[in-house]
Amino acid sequence: MNDLRNIVVLTGAGISAESGIATFRGPGGLWEGHRVEDVCTPEALAADPVLVHRFYDARRAALAGVVPNAGHRALAELDARWPGDLLLVTQNVDDLHERAGSTRLLHMHGELRSALCGLCGIRTEWVDALPPAAPCPHCGEEALRPDIVFFGEMPYGMERIEAAIAGCDLFVSIGTSGAVYPAAGFVQMARACGARTLELNLDRSAGNALFDESRLGPAGELVPAWVAGMLAC
Ligand code: APR
Repeated sequence: MNDLRNIVVLTGAGISAESGIATFRGPGGLWEGHRVEDVCTPEALAADPVLVHRFYDARRAALAGVVPNAGHRALAELDARWPGDLLLVTQNVDDLHERAGSTRLLHMHGELRSALCGLCGIRTEWVDALPPAAPCPHCGEEALRPDIVFFGEMPYGMERIEAAIAGCDLFVSIGTSGAVYPAAGFVQMARACGARTLELNLDRSAGNALFDESRLGPAGELVPAWVAGMLAC
């Protein structure tokens, strides 16, 4: 086994692209269909809850038509067989990492298959359409919203993420453009803590120059090869 013990993996929309889920900033990307301000801010939710709920209902419904790809499956195999610490931090709100079998997983931007009560703060698994002002199963208040971290809101799990990066030997970024913070700053944090850094991406991300190593190509090919190499050591 090589000298690596503790790994943090960050994924973005690119790892789900080969499963048929649109990325955000590529041609035909999700945001291209909508101005971010229209669907992913607290102000948008207050101004036009029907539009915002409909946007996330469509993305939640689309999950039934997609399956994990080889990249998700390879990360699940690493999760099952890696003896050291491993934290998979995903910016994605789809459930493909879980469905592939990953368990040491944290959704920093929330999850489509979850509803959040804006008053009691309790989450409820949600698989169907979520109408505005749906009653919370826990407190009864009509305050359920998509469990998505909107722009301007604090991502989930930051303390756990920062602790994992502080103790990792290797930070791997997969399928993200490096356009959105705090995730885009994780590579800097990892470097400052002495970790090696690797980027697996279709194109060079905004932070590509910060990585010790960068492999360009589709995640469905790069991730299984990388995982096989890690488990062979
Ligand atoms: N394999 C690997 N990488 C890919 C593939 C693929 N098959 N297809 C696309 N990519 C790469 C693109 O080159 C790009 O760098 O995935 C990245 C997708 O970038 P974005 O669309 O910006 O998605 P992401 O980085 O996840 O966005 C971050 O921004 O809008 C917010 O909340 C949203 O979580 C999202 C965050």
